[in-house]
Amino acid sequence: MGRKKISLVGGGQIGGVLSQLIAQKQLGDVVLFDIVEGLPQGKTLDIVEASRVDGFDVNMKGTNDYKDLEGSDIVIITAGLPRKPGMSRDDLLTVNANIMKTVAENVKQYAPNSIVIVISNPLDAMVTLCQKITGFPHNRVIGQAGVLDSSRFATFIAWELGVSVKDVNAMVLGGHGDTMVPIVRYANVNGIPAMELLERKYNNAEKAKEVMAALVNRTKMAGGEVVNLLKTGSAFYSPASSAIAMAKSILYDEKRVLPACAYLNGEFNVNGYYVGVPVVLGSNGAEKIIEFKLDNEEQIAFNNSVNAVKNLIADMERLGF
Ligand code: NAI
Ligand code: 2OP
Repeated sequence: MGRKKISLVGGGQIGGVLSQLIAQKQLGDVVLFDIVEGLPQGKTLDIVEASRVDGFDVNMKGTNDYKDLEGSDIVIITAGLPRKPGMSRDDLLTVNANIMKTVAENVKQYAPNSIVIVISNPLDAMVTLCQKITGFPHNRVIGQAGVLDSSRFATFIAWELGVSVKDVNAMVLGGHGDTMVPIVRYANVNGIPAMELLERKYNNAEKAKEVMAALVNRTKMAGGEVVNLLKTGSAFYSPASSAIAMAKSILYDEKRVLPACAYLNGEFNVNGYYVGVPVVLGSNGAEKIIEFKLDNEEQIAFNNSVNAVKNLIADMERLGF
């Protein structure tokens, strides 16, 4: 039985880290594709040359030829331009839609049986376009955003409460934009509501609400916070780790329930749009959307986020994609 094959389209910052993580975790053979000559080959050679030190043993190839995607089990797409300081995710729409069009056509041609994880921004639009162009069933095209946004939320809660992030569970739903919806009600530390712990810490319910609101706000702005610090480019370690968690659940049929950008067919009262929701990820990709009741406030925030996604898709369609 051969190893699984994971192809990475886009050999930039995230693509490089993805490639290294896949090798170090021995998740499968790796193809790293980019249009820039030498870039994927150079990064791959560099990573492979650490194989003796790290003790991994997978086949790796850097390429500028889409044909190398043949036989891929999973394709992770990061091709596109990252957000620059002062630039919104939506500003990236036109340029990245053109890139996604070419990428998706090639994935359709060379990796017709693959499960695709899209990372390129604006995320919700790029996933939608990728599925439209490949024509793959919706369960085989998903987007990475929620794992990262939720990890950021959990990290900020852990710092605030002074506990290990390993014990914090927190989930962010909705689109991957400023309207994303961190679900405060279910944020917890090994089952203990995070809000209760904050109230105990401050001995004041109002203050606890204020602190949580700041954590929520920081989560929503977290991508921009990294962009502003880096000056050039955007977050790349954490997005890569997040996509790897998704890929691993698919490759090992783990059936993890992870927030992912998935196609909704009436779930959460949304019809015909890709939005971030809890999804069971297994060998068939997005196998099941896990629905749960939102309270009034969450529903309003979720509807607002869905509307932002709808506007983004409408913009993309007006631009001819
Ligand atoms: P990067 O600029 O380092 O890498 C992008 C790569 O895409 C470049 O190497 C470029 O040569 C390549 N590329 C451009 N056109 C291409 C084409 N037609 N075919 C194949 N490759 C092509 O960017 P980075 O930091 O790796 O980010 C990639 C994308 O991921 C960006 O759109 C960024 O906004 C997005 N992102 C998404 C996150 C998420 O949570 N969904 C988080 C962080 C970034
Ligand atoms: C992020 O959330 C920019 O989408 C990117 O870091």
